[in-house]
This record gives sequence, C-alpha cells and structure tokens, in this order.
Amino acid sequence: MNLAGRDLLKLSDLTREELSALLRQAAELKRDPYRFNLRGRVLGLLFQKTSTRTRVSFTAAMAQCGGSTIDLLPTVMQVSRGEPLQDTARVLSRYLDVIAIRTYDQRELETFANYADIPVINALTDQFHPCQVLADLLTIQENFGRLAGLTLAYCGDGNNVAHSLMLGCAMSSIHIRVATPPGYEPDPEVVQQACALAHNSEVILLESAQEAVAGAQIIYTDVWASMGQEAEAEARQSVFWPYQVNAELLKQADPEAIVLHCLPAHRGEEITEAVLEGSQSRVWDQAENRLHVQKALLVQLLGAGDAP
Ligand code: CP
Ligand code: NVA
Repeated sequence: MNLAGRDLLKLSDLTREELSALLRQAAELKRDPYRFNLRGRVLGLLFQKTSTRTRVSFTAAMAQCGGSTIDLLPTVMQVSRGEPLQDTARVLSRYLDVIAIRTYDQRELETFANYADIPVINALTDQFHPCQVLADLLTIQENFGRLAGLTLAYCGDGNNVAHSLMLGCAMSSIHIRVATPPGYEPDPEVVQQACALAHNSEVILLESAQEAVAGAQIIYTDVWASMGQEAEAEARQSVFWPYQVNAELLKQADPEAIVLHCLPAHRGEEITEAVLEGSQSRVWDQAENRLHVQKALLVQLLGAGDAP
C-alpha cells in the first residue's frame, strides 16, 4: 500500500487491496495506538457542518501520534466572506500537511483537492462519508472475523452513508441490500459504480425493509433527514416509519446479527432505544473505530507508516 500524498474523496479512490491493508493497519493501531510518529505534522479541519465523532477522533488521532490539529472554523475564515476555495486550498497547502473537509457538495471538495498540494480527506459531504465506512468495515471484521460473503441490510434514506456503504461493501465482497422508500433511492450513478466494483457479491435495491433484513448479519440505519435537510425532517417522518430498525424487524435478521448506526441517532425514529442499547448493538465500538481507521489513514497519507 502506498497512499502517501493521495486524497480520499470517496472509497473508490482506494483499490480493494489498499482498503483491506488500511483496515489491517487500523486493527494493529487499535492494539498499539502510539506506534507511529507524526511529530511536527499538522492536520487542518475545515468543517462547514457540525460534528462530534469525526472532529474529535481526527484531533485525538493526530495528538496520539505527536502531531497537531488546527480547527479552521469557517465562520472565522475568509471563506465565509467569499474567498474562493481555489485560493484557500493553495494557501492552506503552504501551512498544513493534510486537511479533512466536511461540506455540502462533493464538487466543492473536488475543487479544493484540485488546487491543494496536500492530501485532502472527505470528512462527509452530501454524497459520501468514506471515513465512517472505514470504521464500519473494521467493526464488521472484528465481529465476524471476515467481510466477504456477509450480508448487510441498510434501511432508510439513500444518503451519503448509504452511498459509501454500497462502495465499501462492494469492494469488500459483502452483499448489500438497500431498502428505501420510493423517491429516496441512492444515486443511480453510485449504484452503477458499486455494481461495477462488486466481486462475488450483490448490490440489491429494495422497497421492503423486511425483505432487506431477512437473514442479514449486519443491520444498518442512519437518520431520516441529514444535515442540510432539516426543513424536510417533519415531512420525511411519515414516509420513513416502515424503515424503523426495531425489535420486530430485527427478528427477521440472522440471530447473530449486529446493529450499526453511524450516530448521532434519533431514538424512536430510525432506531428504537431498545435496539440501540440492546445486546446486538455495536454502535459504541463502531464510534471508537473512527479513531483507529482515521489514524491509519493519516499515517498512510503522510507516508509515515510501514506496509502492514
Ligand atoms: N458519524 C459521524 O460522522 O458523526 P459526527 O457527525 O459527530 O462527526
Ligand atoms: N447522513 C447523516 C450522517 C451524519 C454522520 C448526515 O449527513 O447528516
């Protein structure tokens, strides 16, 4: 694996081999958290949306390796007064070693990456959330000891998390079934990409959550209205009720199934309190794994790791 100097804008920027090497490196770092040295290296966080896990896990990962982080709050940056991203990208490249960006349109991230000379990491856009799915795959690997051949059922909105899950599952030979209400299906272009990446596994879109979950080993859900969709939140409630992950739905899954949610969760909406806090939930390990996978990613993009 040689990721030095590269960007991670979406999971398909990695090869299948690079993805699995990165997960191996993350598992090693979970056992040996202070192994690599990023002393003097600086990560910038440019987040246009709120964040708890992504912001803090990136900051902690840098600190644990002896590096530092600058929180580039958009409200105090000149971008908020209209300084073009192209200019911001070139200037920040002169100060920072790597940058993680959370924004709305994937094209903004791509524009920034085109003008930046440093690795650019997608910390969530409306289209993708690759760092989340790296942690999800590590969590699945830890629970089942493998990825290939498992079945993941995603119930809810065909959003950024669903898109990255489709790519990540396809690249790891996990069968993925995505159940959404009509009109909320994943982007057809991403579906096509996932189908092209799939190897010995299926990518299936469904309307029925019951059908998606039947016999599946991983049950996954996310909020019904993502950041930026707050105005639609109320209207979406009635549409998404049949997709709630609750005890009744979970009965259809493999008895050994685990439940994942990227968090933050809206208890009583996309997931019940009982399931989120229940014995099949792995959401806290999943959140922890954000730290380990992002540390592995930073170490690799900065060319500071050995080949795992
Ligand atoms: N899952 C996730 O990305 O959480 P934050 O929005 O808190 O970073
Ligand atoms: N789909 C959610 C994920 C939050 C981590 C959002 O974009 O708000």
